[in-house]
Amino acid sequence: MFKSVLLVCNFILVLTEASVEETVQVFIGDYVVLPCHSPRKPTLLTAHWRYEDSKNVYDIQDGVGSTKEQEPVYKSRTESFPAEYSKGNFSLKLRKLQNIDAGSFCCFLPEFNSLQRCTVLQVKEKPRGIQEKPDSTRGIKSKAERIVPLLIPFFAGTILLWLCEW
Ligand SMILES: *[C@@H]1O[C@H](CO)[C@@H](O)[C@H](O)[C@H]1NC(C)=O
Repeated sequence: MFKSVLLVCNFILVLTEASVEETVQVFIGDYVVLPCHSPRKPTLLTAHWRYEDSKNVYDIQDGVGSTKEQEPVYKSRTESFPAEYSKGNFSLKLRKLQNIDAGSFCCFLPEFNSLQRCTVLQVKEKPRGIQEKPDSTRGIKSKAERIVPLLIPFFAGTILLWLCEW
């Protein structure tokens, strides 16, 4: 009984981890930092960034960031943070956002069964009248979209944690 509850707990945890996705609203011309963190300290410093599961955005291979196979649309617009790799932080900065960037950016972590972390970008025209330094605005998370998918695992997690402790 205890064992099977634990198994279910694990399964739910893996499931919620494996499907982390959030929607972020960004403005044309701004930049965004697309988050990607491994669940544990990584031993393999490799992550693959893809757009809509196919276009190559950026590769981090054995601790080295590479734009060799990168699609031309991302040229000179990407930047990763090598000092962060060993902490499992493979986040990617994407600059000069354009309409064509609307869609999902996922990072795949081969060490963790290609666990993926996705961010869906909604690109909008900057509202007129708001004067901001270019490249300075971070994405605004759309709260409802973040919270709804989180509620289910939260409740499932709470119940299961309670079961597990019990
Ligand atoms: C990952 O690195 C980026 C860039 O330095 C930083 O903005 C972000 O806060 C880091 N994430 C964590 C969880 O440390």
